[in-house]
Amino acid sequence: MLSQRVLVIGASRGIGAELVRQYLAAGSQVHATVRDVSEPGELSGLYGDLTRHRLDVRDLHQTAELAAELAGCDIGVAIHNAGIYRGFPRDEIMEVNAAAPIRVVEALLDAGALSSGAAVAIMTSQMGARRGRTDTLGDYGDSKAALNDEFRRRAVDWGRRGVIAVVVHPGWVRTDMGGTSATLSVEESATGIRRVVDSLTQEQHGRFLTWDGREHPW
Ligand SMILES: NC(=O)c1ccc[n+]([C@@H]2O[C@H](COP(=O)([O-])OP(=O)(O)OC[C@H]3O[C@@H](n4cnc5c(N)ncnc54)[C@H](OP(=O)(O)O)[C@@H]3O)[C@@H](O)[C@H]2O)c1
Repeated sequence: MLSQRVLVIGASRGIGAELVRQYLAAGSQVHATVRDVSEPGELSGLYGDLTRHRLDVRDLHQTAELAAELAGCDIGVAIHNAGIYRGFPRDEIMEVNAAAPIRVVEALLDAGALSSGAAVAIMTSQMGARRGRTDTLGDYGDSKAALNDEFRRRAVDWGRRGVIAVVVHPGWVRTDMGGTSATLSVEESATGIRRVVDSLTQEQHGRFLTWDGREHPW
C-alpha cells in the first residue's frame, strides 16, 4: 500500500530524515517536523511534496499548533521518531522519549488529523525492553520502557479511535545517536520501518515490532 499522506515527527537528521527522503521518493505527500523551520537540517534540499512544520516535542503550545495545522489532513502514516539518548538530564530524557510521543499522538487524534485506519508508529528501543527486570535500565532505557508502558495503556483507546498503532525498535543504526559502529545504515533501517509501517494489519495493533517486522518482547 502506498501511503499518500505521511507525517514524520523529528525529521532534521538520522532515521527521521531518511524516512522523509524515502517517502518523498515513493511519491507520498510528506509533513515533517523540525525544531527550527529556518534550519531544517537534512530536509533542506529535498524535493517533492514536503511541508515542514515547527515542533519541539517538549512544547505543549507547538504541539497544539501542529495538531491544528494538520486537522482534517487525513494523515495515513504518522511516525513519532524524535528522541534523545545521552548527555541530557533524566527529566528531559523522560519528557522527550516517554511523555511527548503519547501527547503528540493524542493531540493528532483529538484534532482529527489521522485518517481512519491510519498507521501510527512510535520509535522505541530494545533498550526499553524490561524482559521482567525491575531494576533501572538507565535513563534512556527507563524512558523507552515508560513509553512502552504508557503506549500499552493507551493502545486500547487508540484502537477504538480507528488507528493501528505500534512501537518500533529501529535496530542499531549509524546516526548521531547510534554512532559509527552500529550495524545498520539509515537506509536499511528506514526501508525496513517503511515496509513494516506500510503493511500494518489490525491484528498487529498494540505490538512492539522491530525494523524488520519481528515481534519484540516487552
Ligand atoms: N540510532 C539508533 O541506533 C537507535 C536505536 C534504538 C532506538 N532509536 C530511536 O530512534 C529514533 C531516532 O533516532 P536517531 O538515531 O535517528 O537519532 P538522532 O540522529 O539523534 O536524531 C534525533 C532526532 O530527534 C530530534 N529531536 C530530539 N529532541 C527533540 C525535541 N525535543 N523535539 C523535536 N525533535 C527532537 C532531533 O532533532 P534536532 O536535530 O533538532 O536535535 C533529530 O531529528 C529515536 O527515538 C531513538 O531513540 C535509535
